[in-house]
Amino acid sequence: MAFIVALLLLFFSAFSQGNALSLNYYTKTCPDVEHVIAQVVREETSKDKTVPAALLRMHFHDCFIRGCDVQRKQLKLSAPGIVSCADILALAARDAVVLTGGPTWDVPKGRKDGRISKASETVQLPSPTFNISQLQQSFSQRGLSMEDLVALSGGHTLGFSHCSSFQNRIHNFNSTHDTDPTLHPSFAASLRSICPVKHKAKNAGTTMDPSSTTFDNTYYKLILQKKSLFSSDQALLTIQKTKDLVSKYASSRKAFNTAFVNSMIKMSSITGGQEVRKDCRVVN
Ligand code: HEM
Ligand SMILES: *[C@@H]1O[C@H](CO)[C@@H](O)[C@H](O)[C@H]1NC(C)=O
Ligand SMILES: *[C@@H]1O[C@H](CO)[C@@H](O)[C@H](O)[C@H]1NC(C)=O
Repeated sequence: MAFIVALLLLFFSAFSQGNALSLNYYTKTCPDVEHVIAQVVREETSKDKTVPAALLRMHFHDCFIRGCDVQRKQLKLSAPGIVSCADILALAARDAVVLTGGPTWDVPKGRKDGRISKASETVQLPSPTFNISQLQQSFSQRGLSMEDLVALSGGHTLGFSHCSSFQNRIHNFNSTHDTDPTLHPSFAASLRSICPVKHKAKNAGTTMDPSSTTFDNTYYKLILQKKSLFSSDQALLTIQKTKDLVSKYASSRKAFNTAFVNSMIKMSSITGGQEVRKDCRVVN
């Protein structure tokens, strides 16, 4: 029902154009857009607790790959020609954070959806095996700092990871260690039992943290306990600057929330699109 309402509201609103992002971009053309999206995200989440994590990750990927553009067939909201898919996803990601107990913020709007081209697909996402210098390079290429890297990695307070994403740490780590020695031994043992070399279930994996449907600062506490999942998480301890930030956010949820909001606004303002897509489908 809400889905239909969302569709109609967005479809019949007037069209508007502009270049800079702004907080009141849809005030005249689609004044209800934020309420409608929040409502849909709430309803989808009440049916499926994995929705917020998926939305947050999707927004990150789109920003990194094409400048906050959205691929078709990903979202279950539709806004032909009025509200860009990129704006819908930026708003839905914010709502996902709020719904799971995180901070709220005003989302600047007015993104254009980019054309999907194979060429732009060559822009790589950071890999979970990245070390600190590779992470720094990946973020700085998008105008993001080491502060942004540490704060945004806190998105890993939500969601689930498949074995393949941390496989490198628990089997054949290097020629002298089968397991990454920076992993807590009992944690490493539990990951190995979930993800054995052979006979592992197709969708095997584990939650990002024990409170994986709550947006909190547990992620940073786990890094300090050597219980983070990815090499890229653990890498935040390898230089003093990022290590200090991890400690700061581990000891203050408030400091983390403030930093996360600032960096999300920065990340979600990486633009690169040229058009408002005619047809986009959101979330399942
Ligand atoms: C710093 C570089 C990053 C790397 C290397 C990275 C890597 C990954 C990997 C490998 C997964 C697990 C995928 C799987 O096995 O299914 C994952 C999940 C996730 N990531 Fe990241 N990520 C990074 C940054 C971010 C950022 C900036 C955000 C958002 C602010 C984010 C949000 C998430 C969320 C919410 C999930 C869980 C998804 C779900 O449960 O559906 N990540 N990430
Ligand atoms: C990170 O990895 C790259 C590529 O493997 C390597 O050249 C670089 O020396 C590494 N940096 C650190 C700080 O380990
Ligand atoms: C394997 O990794 C450990 C921990 O990072 C390191 O101390 C050791 O030198 C590595 N061994 C080789 C052969 O690279």
